Amino acid sequence: MKPYIIAPSILSSDFTRLGEQIAECEAAGADWIHVDVMDGHFVPNLTMGPVLVQACRRTTDLPIDVHLMIENPENLLEAFARAGASTLIVHVETCPDLPSTLKKIKSLGCKAGVTLNPETPANTLEPALNMADQLLVLTVHPGFSGQSFLPEMISKVAEIRHSLDKNESPAWLEVDGGISPVTISLAREAGADAFVSGSAIFHHPEGIATGIRLLREKLQ
Ligand code: DX5
Ligand code: ZN
Repeated sequence: MKPYIIAPSILSSDFTRLGEQIAECEAAGADWIHVDVMDGHFVPNLTMGPVLVQACRRTTDLPIDVHLMIENPENLLEAFARAGASTLIVHVETCPDLPSTLKKIKSLGCKAGVTLNPETPANTLEPALNMADQLLVLTVHPGFSGQSFLPEMISKVAEIRHSLDKNESPAWLEVDGGISPVTISLAREAGADAFVSGSAIFHHPEGIATGIRLLREKLQ
């Protein structure tokens, strides 16, 4: 059986101690490191770019999952690939020709992921179903960590799980936003197998390792 993936989102980390915190995630059994790239246009917040991915790459061998909340992602795919990204996830809302964007990502040697905003219907992913290595359901409105999980996204996760299974696709089905020890179970039951989490890991009062352990326990 495929394992479950836990991907800490470093948007919630303490940037003055980023290397240490990534090492803590790794020691606690994190599977991937999730990097939230925001451009101040597609979303009303501005975060990190390729140099940050490069810094992560120098400090860990874990796969780096790069979530591109940016307009015209095509312009930056190469820079992120060169910086050491393992997976590049684009928003369907920003890609007029999704198959060609995914093809470009693969030609750069990365895994290709696609995501969609909460209000974007699941069927917009159809052109990607046979090509994407990963589909990401945003379970909050993108832009900020620390928001509450949108329960109405559960049926979207289930719908996409159904389409993936029908297509016999081995793609990961990832969820991102408001994932806690409570909501992780709802997402898993709906068919998700990769879980991004920021605040529940980095802001756990007992530390990163406890945050990850409490999530993992719900996936046993
Ligand atoms: C939202 C980001 C998420 C977010 C996760 O735009 O894509 O990755 O930082 O953080 P939490 O788990 O705190 O919602
Ligand atoms: Zn994200």
